[in-house]
Amino acid sequence: MRKILVTSALPYANGSIHLGHLVEYIQTDIWVRFQKLSGHECLFVCADDTHGTPIMLSAKRGGITPEELIARMQREHTEDFQAFNISFDNYYSTHSPENKELSEMFYAQAQAKGLIEEKEISQAYCEKCQLFLPDRFIKGTCPRCGAEEQYGDSCEVCSATYAPTELKDAHCTECGAKPVQKNSQHYFFKLSALDKELLAWVKAGHIQPEIYNKLMEWFQQGLRDWDISRDAPYFGFPIPGADNKFFYVWLDAPIGYIASTQNYCAKINRDFADIWRRPGWEIHHFIGKDILYFHTLFWPALLMAAGLQTPRQIHIHGFLTINGEKMSKSRGTFISARQYLEAGLNPEYLRYYFASKLGGSLNDIDLNIGDFAARVNSDLVNKLVNIGSRLGSLVHKQLDGTLAKPDAAGQKILDEIRAAQENITRDYEELELHKAMREIMRLADTANKYINDSTPWNTVKTDPAQAAQICTSGLNCLKILTAYIKPVLPIIAAGVEKFLNCGELTFQNAGDLLLDHKINAYEHLAQRIDEADVNKKLLG
Ligand code: 2FM
Ligand code: ZN
Repeated sequence: MRKILVTSALPYANGSIHLGHLVEYIQTDIWVRFQKLSGHECLFVCADDTHGTPIMLSAKRGGITPEELIARMQREHTEDFQAFNISFDNYYSTHSPENKELSEMFYAQAQAKGLIEEKEISQAYCEKCQLFLPDRFIKGTCPRCGAEEQYGDSCEVCSATYAPTELKDAHCTECGAKPVQKNSQHYFFKLSALDKELLAWVKAGHIQPEIYNKLMEWFQQGLRDWDISRDAPYFGFPIPGADNKFFYVWLDAPIGYIASTQNYCAKINRDFADIWRRPGWEIHHFIGKDILYFHTLFWPALLMAAGLQTPRQIHIHGFLTINGEKMSKSRGTFISARQYLEAGLNPEYLRYYFASKLGGSLNDIDLNIGDFAARVNSDLVNKLVNIGSRLGSLVHKQLDGTLAKPDAAGQKILDEIRAAQENITRDYEELELHKAMREIMRLADTANKYINDSTPWNTVKTDPAQAAQICTSGLNCLKILTAYIKPVLPIIAAGVEKFLNCGELTFQNAGDLLLDHKINAYEHLAQRIDEADVNKKLLG
């Protein structure tokens, strides 16, 4: 049995969960459920990412304290995750006593190893707001193309990147005042001092090979030391021994993975040091490609400095596009988790759709509404659930609700489905979810064809014993396929388990057949959806 700790990236506490986020939570959740159903010990932890200037300012704008804001968002996020059946073992907050203590410990360890350096730097400052301004809080005219109201780091019109000082008519997004440059003392983590260890770690294969070159570029350019401090006012943890300085949110955010683990272990009374200190546990982080640098360089460096074990694997995914376009509020292609739920769409449909598109690569995936409706209808409804709805009432009404033994033709198909388990297992493990889904649906096709050809609804009139055998074969196909797809469709799988009266399906018992076995009445499991209707509900 493996021991696996899994995390998804911590969502910021100042925004709602949207479908782009859900790609990651769903991908991670499927992998976690797969590991658990395969008999491994697997812990899935996450938390809200609560610190930083944007959260501080958005609370201020709303006339509430940051603590109130993060509490409100934590409730909203938790509800959304529950609705999509994201099965966190623990969902915590980075604004927690555990995280504060751990962040201080990480800092002290880095300091003791001579990895912290103080330097004076000059940054944009708003005198009216009395605030150092992160790039996103400065807007102005792009120095390259002249587009107005562009952010301090890059232009959305011509994609130029620049320093905020290069913007023309730079102004503070909060009050409109022109920023000045101001000096202050900052604390830097000397990433460069660990560059050999980090390079060795990167080369040891903990990251998808396709981004290897990107990482090598960073090493070749030389690793830059990392500013881990921010000036007051800031919503975060004060840096011990420093005057009015706070840890930068990106320092305490990944430490939040450990704080959430610790919080969980305390709840269930288990030794927590074990998990992050000893190599007995595998640590797996799931992240998007935008936060690669933090997880492949800063985070392993912090762990090394603290003497903790580094991640076994960083699983990186691409972004979500909607009908081929970037998700954007202004273009009306931004879909929040809430909006999806309020449209009355089944969360399992999105889980299936994402699974059917996701491979283990960094490629972006597209939610195409027409394709979405087609896959739900043709795969889930017509292929999978159809087996149950066609045979369920027949067995129930005419065959005393009892299964018998498979016939020879059916047995052959059952053998084929059982034999596919090895490949499907490998695909889940490697996150080639689209391949696993394709194979499951191919097998469901085979099962449906067999049922069509054997016409048990006719046979039952002349040879009920033979019809019972056909139904037994067909429903056992459904049983095995449901076990295979259970990490993706936990609720539909629970419905099939109830219908087949078979207890909890796992990857270990998937191939056992239900023989001479009483089943329950079939209850509706999935409904067709209409493309135009989905379009209207999601995209207006
Ligand atoms: O990019 C983000 O949304 C961050 N809140 C992710 C943090 S992940 C981890 F490092 F905490
Ligand atoms: Zn200002």
